[in-house]
Amino acid sequence: MFERYFSELKELKENCCERKLISLKKTGKYIFEDNKKYLNLSSNDYLGIAEDRKVLNNFLKIADFSMGSASSRLLTGSSYVYAKLECLLSALYRKDKSLIFNSGYHANTGIMSALLSKKDVVFCDKLNHASILDGIKLSKAKMFRYKHLDYDHLEELLQKHRNDYDTAIIVTESLFSMDGDIADLNKLVELKNKYNAILVVDEAHAFGVYGSRGLGIAEEQNCIKDIDLIVGTFGKAIGSMGAFCSGHEVLINYLINKCRPLIFSTAIPEINIAFSYFVITEVIPNLKTQRQELLKTAQKLRENLAALNLTTTGSSHIVPVILGENKTAVKASKVLIDNGYYLLPIRHPTVAQNTARVRISLRADISYEEIESIPDIINKAANI
Ligand SMILES: Cc1ncc(COP(=O)(O)O)c(C=O)c1O
Repeated sequence: MFERYFSELKELKENCCERKLISLKKTGKYIFEDNKKYLNLSSNDYLGIAEDRKVLNNFLKIADFSMGSASSRLLTGSSYVYAKLECLLSALYRKDKSLIFNSGYHANTGIMSALLSKKDVVFCDKLNHASILDGIKLSKAKMFRYKHLDYDHLEELLQKHRNDYDTAIIVTESLFSMDGDIADLNKLVELKNKYNAILVVDEAHAFGVYGSRGLGIAEEQNCIKDIDLIVGTFGKAIGSMGAFCSGHEVLINYLINKCRPLIFSTAIPEINIAFSYFVITEVIPNLKTQRQELLKTAQKLRENLAALNLTTTGSSHIVPVILGENKTAVKASKVLIDNGYYLLPIRHPTVAQNTARVRISLRADISYEEIESIPDIINKAANI
């Protein structure tokens, strides 16, 4: 009865693509597995907040919140704690309204499937996250994928196809999670205005890290006011759980009425929402130096990888080293882990065929000295 699944799993294993769950213990920047200690370079905890006991203890001193919400936000799950965080986000982004979701995956699948219908069209960066693609598939809208960060290609597609459909959405990540590179949001604003489209920007990996107040790339590029819907997540640099979008009142009200992951899932508990609020108001504003240091470490690492002719992309705190075949990435990861660096291989289908990589997700609490041997280790492993 399960033969099909068994043989597919076998094939994944043979192609070095099998995924497994691992039981880990985490303390600060370290991961412990089988009593061995590793530097954690594979999480999205870019500012070291999720594992910071001091932050947690300070939060717990003021925490008087429930651990379960017991229903969807449309029933009794939407406590005042949600309203407080949504008001804060709207004020920070200077948008009419904000809406919190259980996760970035819920947000993107819900937003795309709600805002788009069969009569609509979406222009999607080729490397946008799976949650965006899944939402578009659910919507049944026509999708055109433009070449990654290639805005001439996007314009060509807009020129050719925009007028054949009702609503048009352009959707992009601001900081691409697998390549560490950054979208030109002002160019996208220009195109969305020219072709009468809604611009949706997913700041999942930039929220908390970029911009003078940590609001993301849109803040850094000074175009928050021109973006129709900004999506951010609390599960990465904020060290919490959940996601949000901020935008025009009509869009938010429409989502409250039509967004299925919001309507049909139990809301995440107050305590998580309150923790996100605490981090955004009490922690992030004090981490300006750490955020700057994080980007300096990334730059130094990129320079030293390039000096060994290793291929990297992007310019952010996510530093991918492209190794090609799955088995090369698996081998490099194994050697890095043997040397105390918890760095996992990223393979197809998460990235394109023959672009398997190790992705170094830097953290503000890791200094360059702690990772300086990485380029050498990868270079040796890739060339054995
Ligand atoms: C760009 C992007 N958007 C959304 C998500 C999903 O966010 P979450 O982990 O909160 O579901 C991710 C997850 O890695 C992501 O990389």
